[in-house]
Amino acid sequence: MTIQRWLGPALCACWLLAVTSQTTSAQQRDVNYDEENVPDYSLPDPLVMADGSPVKEAQTWSAKRRPEILQMFAAEMYGKSPAPLDGMHAELTESDPRALDGKAHRKQVRIYFSADKGGPKMDLLVYLPATATGPTPVFLGLNFNGNHTVHADPQIHLSTSWIRNKGAAVVDHRATEASRGTSATRWAVDDILSRGYGLATIYYGDIDPDFDDGFQNGVHPLFYRDGQRQPAPDEWGSIAAWAWGLSRAVDYFETDDAIDQHRVAVMGHSRLGKTSLWAGATDPRFAIVISNDSGCGGAALSRRRFGEKVKRINTSFPHWFCDNFLKYNDNEAALPFDQHMLIALMAPRPVYIASAEEDRWADPRGEYLAGYHATPVYHLFGKKGLPDEQMPRVNQPVMNSIGYHIRTGKHDVTDFDWKCYLDFADLHFSR
Ligand code: GCU
Repeated sequence: MTIQRWLGPALCACWLLAVTSQTTSAQQRDVNYDEENVPDYSLPDPLVMADGSPVKEAQTWSAKRRPEILQMFAAEMYGKSPAPLDGMHAELTESDPRALDGKAHRKQVRIYFSADKGGPKMDLLVYLPATATGPTPVFLGLNFNGNHTVHADPQIHLSTSWIRNKGAAVVDHRATEASRGTSATRWAVDDILSRGYGLATIYYGDIDPDFDDGFQNGVHPLFYRDGQRQPAPDEWGSIAAWAWGLSRAVDYFETDDAIDQHRVAVMGHSRLGKTSLWAGATDPRFAIVISNDSGCGGAALSRRRFGEKVKRINTSFPHWFCDNFLKYNDNEAALPFDQHMLIALMAPRPVYIASAEEDRWADPRGEYLAGYHATPVYHLFGKKGLPDEQMPRVNQPVMNSIGYHIRTGKHDVTDFDWKCYLDFADLHFSR
């Protein structure tokens, strides 16, 4: 495990190389990659209320237990998010019905989070199949490096935000032409369009820059009460802010007749996979929820302490979760939930968890087990989850209401991953 891996793939500055070996060994001493060393743990039962009473019907789940669990995750882990402001509004900034050599209708939409055009805003890039005749189902995902990196299309507006954090050091780093299309391998735009789906994406840094700035940039300050300077211990961190931004994109979809607001699949990779899960938990308008290699704080069970642990993630990325989550550093057994209950919050909606064989930092088995232990909640709705405690073979997806695959290769998003997501959407959107 290198420092590049946990600070993000964009890091390559020479000065970092000097500290890499030192940090790597320090980190490795503290990381368990051995199944034998997973501690004994017992998971909280999603089907038992905090007062000990059992949950036997879907109705009790939806009316009582689900809100209880959602509230615990909000207060203790991701932080509570505010409702959108009344002045929020969107403007179409560009549209071309014959984009990508006639294959796509491209739209670029600027969404202002308040009435103030000088305040925080996000740019949404949408591609819809040019042949679409009615409202089109879409995949919605945040991107890491700017909308202009998801495809070489020269008409995508260059992001005007800062692009990526540089670890602890904050560097003014603006988008340039040179970075156009540089993340294209992670976005199977042609496959998505040719299978009849749209793709909508937003640069996550538009919503909240990904570094620990004491929440002075991004969307948080817009919601501070008089005298407030940062979120309270149970208020939103950056993951919750990114998820909130995804919901604001759905607010826009509800106003756009070309997009099928009832068939929106939210997809995210890694920290943005954690984000897609929290978005799916907090906003039932996401009809399918997909997490790709989301790991600790995403699909992986925290109590397994395999790969990245709670203390490590809170130390490396102090802005991702709310401050109450610090209580669980090296203290996972005290959590009133584990990540299987986050997956259960999607029920009965379809949810897909994906892992990669070499991505041990994200604990593939812990990711799988979260789906397995969420399954009893799906049963309440007469839905099938992941019936087998054993993981499926590599590259052999399982697709029930909970979907799962572990593919060969590293921490990344590949065409194989996208093929599975498209198959899963076909299955559940019954097209
Ligand atoms: C780091 C971090 C992970 C995260 C990943 C990413 O590796 O430790 O929790 O998922 O970055 O977002 O790329």
